[in-house]
Parts: sequence; structure tokens; C-alpha cells
Amino acid sequence: MWSDIARKLWEKTLAAVRRNGDAIPYIAGEDGLFDDHSGGISWWTNGFWAGSLWQMYALTGKAELMDAARAIEGKLDAALTDAQGMDHDSGFKWLLTAGADYALTKNPASLNRLLLAASNLAGRFNPAGNFIRAWNDGTGEKAGLVIIDCLMNLPLLYRASQLTGDPRFAQIAALHARTAAKHFMRPDGSVEHIVLFDPATGERTGTLGGQGMGPGSAWSRGQAWALYGFALSYRHTGERVFLDCARRSADYFTAHIPASGLIPADFCQDADCAFEDDSAAACAACGLLELAERTGEEGYAGTARRLLTALTEKRADLDPATDRVLTHCTVSFHDKRHNHPLIYADYFYTEAVARLAGEGVFLW
Ligand code: GLY
Repeated sequence: MWSDIARKLWEKTLAAVRRNGDAIPYIAGEDGLFDDHSGGISWWTNGFWAGSLWQMYALTGKAELMDAARAIEGKLDAALTDAQGMDHDSGFKWLLTAGADYALTKNPASLNRLLLAASNLAGRFNPAGNFIRAWNDGTGEKAGLVIIDCLMNLPLLYRASQLTGDPRFAQIAALHARTAAKHFMRPDGSVEHIVLFDPATGERTGTLGGQGMGPGSAWSRGQAWALYGFALSYRHTGERVFLDCARRSADYFTAHIPASGLIPADFCQDADCAFEDDSAAACAACGLLELAERTGEEGYAGTARRLLTALTEKRADLDPATDRVLTHCTVSFHDKRHNHPLIYADYFYTEAVARLAGEGVFLW
């Protein structure tokens, strides 16, 4: 089954490349066709389409896919020199572009980009609180904003240490992950989206609801970032605390999967609220597959297949005449718009399907 879906995905990906050239998609329109976010080159999602292209290149060896991914990697050079555009999301932007290119082709220009991006991410570290700062806007309290999403970017630092032999990158990543384990995990296994720290003293001063329903709620994509992000820190460090956090995040996510198998934007939303987030489902599936591999426990893989089967049967558009794949995503609970495509949902779905088909490439 998964090899068949992987084949449909690469046929669709190839058709989308031929229609869109080097466009960098973010949210496909109602016609199912991609937009182009190249004008806002530092946007955090600008690596995901290239990531899908590399996954499909690994599967097919088709040079057209590699060329399109490399065109995006080149465009992102403008982001590498945009100081205010560089933030905690450098892993999303450069692991799935330059990191993938280097992993698959040993392109020296890609290694250069990856190390520049990793150095910038390491430079965001706050030693008073042992955390990586999130966004750039604001001073004072805002200079101490930390978000759960950042866990997914730490593999850029682990990879930089592996590639250079310099342990500092990985040390910073592990310090940040330990801070996340201490301050983001709640007793029931759900997670905070945003935690505020005093940037001068490192003291924790509060939490914010962020992209979830509100303070104390359980934003489903944040739960998926925690699940996969902690699992990845465990993969790279072997520290048990990260495995424990990944397991607890996974247990909370799994216990809240509705009968439909489709994931709400927030696990605390009212039963009659129809906001969905396929990106949370797809990212959680990737995290569960990682946990299954690390622990040897088949239950995690079974839950991943359950999520992916629901997406495939109810939410995936595999028609090569359109560009988008998943159709029901939410950026933020309080947005006006819900249940639309998002490029990162498509990336994580593609990664998970390729992994189940035994044909993808590990990029984190
Ligand atoms: N803040 C990135 C996200 O929407 O998950």
C-alpha cells in the first residue's frame, strides 16, 4: 500500500515541478495549485517543498527533482544574509535544502550553507536560561520567548557537530532540549507552546497560548513538534529524559485521536468545532515512526499507520492535476481561515509515506 502511495506522490511531485518551476509554495489556493512565497524569502516554511523534492529524488533518482530543489536552495542564500529574518527555524529552512543536498550528493556549497545556518542558530543561545531565543521582534521580556517548535530545529546543530567534530553545536542543542523538557512538559503529557523567560536572569516568568486555543490548552501541532522533536534529540544524544518526553507527548497525542483518525487544531477545542490540522497528524506520524524505530515497539508504528491511513482515505489529494496533497490544515487556532492546504503538512506526509515504503531519506 505505502509503495503505491509513494509512487503516486512522486508522479504528482514531478507534475507540480513542471507546472511551478522554482516557485516556493506555502498555501495552495482553492484550485489546489501552489502559490509562490519566494518574495518573502526568510519565511520559516521555505524549505519544506525542497524537502519533498529531495525525498522524491531519493526514491526515483530523477534529476529534474534535484534541479528544482537546488534552485530553491540557491534562492535561500538571500535569507542567510538577512539578519532579522534568521530565527529559531533555521533547521526547517536549511536541513531540508542544503542538509538534504549534502547528505545525498556531498555538494560542498551545501555544507557551507548548513554550517552558516547552524552557527547563526547557535548564536541565538541564551546561557543565562539555557534556551534558544525564538523570534527577533522585541526586547526585554520578548527577548526571552521560547517555543516548542524550536525542538525540530535542533538536528541542524547535532548535524553541524557531526560534520565538523566541534561539540559546541550539539552541546547547545542538548542544553535547549533539557530546558524544554523541564519547562514545556505538563504533568498530563501535553505541552506549552510558548514559555517566557527573563533573558537577563534566565528565570521562567510565564506561558502563552500561542497558536493554540489559549493558555493551558493543547495545540495539536505543538504536541507533534514535541513528540518528534524530543524523539530526534534522543536519537542524537541517547539521553533518556528526551525519550521519556517523546513517549509522554506521544501518549497524550494518541489518547486524544478522535474516532475519525483526523486531528483537531487543538485537543481542547469543543466537540462541535470543526478546525482540523493535517500537519499535526502528519508530523506526529513521523515522530511515532521514529519512536517505533528507536524503541522497537510496534504500537507506535501502528498509531502512525492509523493517522496516515485516515489522511490518505479522507484528506489526501493524489491527483497529479493539482499541486497540494493534504487539504485540512490550520496555521493558528484564532485565524479566520481553517481547513486549507499547508506545504509542511505535505512534507511530513511525504516523509512518513516514504519511510513506511522503505524508500525515503532521513534528513533530521
Ligand atoms: N510556528 C510554526 C508553526 O506554525 O508551527
